[in-house]
Amino acid sequence: MNVHLPSIPLLASTERTFWLPKAAAAQAKDVDGVFYFIYVLSVIFFVLVVGAMIYFCIRYRRRGPDDRTSPIEGNRRLEIVWSVVPSVLLLVMFLWGFRGWMNLNVPPAGAIDVRVTAQKWSWSFDMPKMGCTGLGELVVPKDTPVRLTMSSRDVIHSFFVPAFRIKRDVVPNRYSVIWFEATELGTYDVLCTEFCGTKHSEMISRVKVVSEQAFNQWVEMGCGMGNLPPMELGKKLFSARGCVACHSVTKDRKNLPGPPLAGVYGSTEQTLQGAVKVDDNYIRESITEPRAKVLKGYAPVMPPYKGLLNDKQINGLIDYIKSLK
Ligand code: CUA
Repeated sequence: MNVHLPSIPLLASTERTFWLPKAAAAQAKDVDGVFYFIYVLSVIFFVLVVGAMIYFCIRYRRRGPDDRTSPIEGNRRLEIVWSVVPSVLLLVMFLWGFRGWMNLNVPPAGAIDVRVTAQKWSWSFDMPKMGCTGLGELVVPKDTPVRLTMSSRDVIHSFFVPAFRIKRDVVPNRYSVIWFEATELGTYDVLCTEFCGTKHSEMISRVKVVSEQAFNQWVEMGCGMGNLPPMELGKKLFSARGCVACHSVTKDRKNLPGPPLAGVYGSTEQTLQGAVKVDDNYIRESITEPRAKVLKGYAPVMPPYKGLLNDKQINGLIDYIKSLK
């Protein structure tokens, strides 16, 4: 039996550090500040408490059958100190954290709007003002606030960009909002941090932070896709939108969950709903409503892409599938 080893997408970040990863967004300062404050305090108190405990164990151990500790009444000054000091520290943690939390929840006016759609197991980004839909990766300008309005088409996912220190659940049937302002050029990982099924760990995308000039250029070029010939657009989408994870582009199925696509165009296939001829209409339907006619021998596991790809993108995908021999 041949075993299918899934190709897990590579992460953009190769940083290996004991500390928090390099921060690349404005709010990260607050998050890191509170985190290290709590972390350092925890270490100090751990050493103090455990150290005192070990010291007392040794210092006041029982030395013989008649050994007794002296009666201890209490110590008001000590008790006040160990109540007031931790209370003040807790208050600092709360207020500092609360300020960061409020900041994270109130996007500034004039932020670029991005709609984020999560579904098993991919992220999709729309930038309505730029006229860009169905992006597999997010591209944003540096030093500009970006507001993400996120929802899920199936189960609960969670949007996480470690370098920006932002994370929020993405839930079906409602919108969750979060924002960031990237301060460093570069490419950063987007991860899913809510277990959402077998390929949860492969639900990875990227945020590219570019200069404002490069961003405007990118938008003019149709968000990196607009000016591609249809077949090239289809090929790009095929990997960007994760089709490649389930469909082989050769005649060999390679143990993938979806049917191989080479040479299918024009053939007649047996589906659970009867025989179909694979033409443009069938491919279109299989992208937008894949469960309408499921090939025999396959499980109806493909998520519908209706509303996630525009006509131009669907046509590109059809042209690309047509070209596979
Ligand atoms: Cu989506 Cu885990």
